[in-house]
Amino acid sequence: MKLFLDTANQAEVEAAVKMGVICGVTTNPSLVAKEGGDYIQRVKYFCDLVGGPISVEVLANDAEGMLREARELAALHENIVIKLPITAESLAVIKQLTAEGIKTNATLCFSANQAILAAQAGATYVSPFVGRLNDIGQDGMTLIEEIRTIYDNFGYDTEIIVASVRSPRQVTDAALIGADIATIPYKILMQMVGHPQTDLGIAKFEADWAKRNS
Ligand code: E4P
Repeated sequence: MKLFLDTANQAEVEAAVKMGVICGVTTNPSLVAKEGGDYIQRVKYFCDLVGGPISVEVLANDAEGMLREARELAALHENIVIKLPITAESLAVIKQLTAEGIKTNATLCFSANQAILAAQAGATYVSPFVGRLNDIGQDGMTLIEEIRTIYDNFGYDTEIIVASVRSPRQVTDAALIGADIATIPYKILMQMVGHPQTDLGIAKFEADWAKRNS
């Protein structure tokens, strides 16, 4: 399973790239709004630095506006992926962008039927939001299982990005199910790295080494 970083923060992307474990980035309007500076310049910087897909969301609600924004963003860099919330308008836009060779990420996916529609429209990626489903008392990981099964049943090549990840365990579960990608906040990435037994083990090795007979 591939790992993307879910952030618009430059320092976080730089640190994760340095670790060598992420191969893409997803942003959304809320994440971008938290950061200052020139958003477009930062997106282009991420494209070069990461060398993989960088999802950038359109804000228009109508097909014409979505297409205009998508084409402008896609022209910035070959690694740009256009993120569109799944709606009746956006599905047609996804189909058109796919025909133009522009990669898309069908986002805010909360049902298997939405994932079927995204795949039928030719989306490169679909992003089911597990954390937000859990927030309303549903089981986000069950949705990932359903989409994986459906996509395998029919050979859809749309890649599943497990999004709205709130715990390291959800990354493990996503990998066990066979999701293609998990997009994770930097905090979760750091939680994946650490384990108390690793820290204790390092401390013991260092203490034993210091006591060695020389
Ligand atoms: C994914 O592409 C989204 O940016 C993200 O995972 C949303 O997560 P949240 O529900 O924690 O805001």
